Amino acid sequence: MTTPHVRPISLSDNTLLITGGTSGIGRALAEAFHDLGNQVIVTGRRQALLDAMMRERPGLVGFPLDVGNPDSLARLTETLRSQFPDLNMLIANAGISQAEDMGSDDWDASVAASIVDTNIMGVLRVTAAFLPMIRKRPNAAIMATSSNLAFIPRADYPTYCASKAFLHSWLQSLRHQLRNVPVTVLELSPPYVQTELTGEHQAKDPRAMPLADYVTEVMQLLAMGRHPNGEVLVERDMARRRAEREGRYDEMYAAINPG
Ligand SMILES: NC(=O)c1ccc[n+]([C@@H]2O[C@H](COP(=O)([O-])OP(=O)(O)OC[C@H]3O[C@@H](n4cnc5c(N)ncnc54)[C@H](OP(=O)(O)O)[C@@H]3O)[C@@H](O)[C@H]2O)c1
Repeated sequence: MTTPHVRPISLSDNTLLITGGTSGIGRALAEAFHDLGNQVIVTGRRQALLDAMMRERPGLVGFPLDVGNPDSLARLTETLRSQFPDLNMLIANAGISQAEDMGSDDWDASVAASIVDTNIMGVLRVTAAFLPMIRKRPNAAIMATSSNLAFIPRADYPTYCASKAFLHSWLQSLRHQLRNVPVTVLELSPPYVQTELTGEHQAKDPRAMPLADYVTEVMQLLAMGRHPNGEVLVERDMARRRAEREGRYDEMYAAINPG
């Protein structure tokens, strides 16, 4: 089977916008791109963290953005159109995660609704808002953060895993539709990484991949253009990503979801 070639991105001379850039993977990616001399625009809801990043890193700019709030997105779009018309790259990374117990009597769909709104509609809204700017620029690229839980779900995080499986499917269609524009469409599918996504414990969990190691490996893959089918997969992603095609899906599913 041949894997479609997806145009590599340049790691320099970009004006890039990152959502969910105030902490964790987004913040580490923002810093890595800033270290390479790119114009980095960081967004998130926590203004104090945006202010701290701007203080620490001259040249980096931060703007508030709630991806669930269309007014907030409209304000940012206007600002970037006037102040950063060279925008050529979007990293749609903002996401939330929460466990849900669908067997409990008080389970309702409110957590699911907020996950769908942030993880799915948040990515679609920012893509719709910024694609018209990005597609006109050289080295145009969109990278969105899914998860390797897109490939095998953890049943205690049902909507979270499904939201990432949605992105995995949707990004394939986006990539196909933009194949002649051209905009490089990449999917980042992190393994379990040391961030505070599910709480403070995760940032210290020895089973999770250290954040700096993860982002270093990602930047190496991007530099080498090593992302078959547009999927940016680190070594730790491979077992889950390949489980189905290698006939190990049922065994891995059972290991992740003990009966
Ligand atoms: N860490 C892992 O193990 C792992 C594995 C697979 C995938 N991922 C994915 O990686 C991405 C980053 O997560 P992380 O692990 O780095 O966790 P994190 O530190 O909690 O980062 C989440 C980021 O999303 C932002 N965010 C959340 N809701 C938002 C909203 N409504 N509007 C705007 N920004 C919002 C947060 O910023 P504010 O709070 O300032 O808004 C924060 O910057 C997520 O999409 C996550 O699903 C993580």
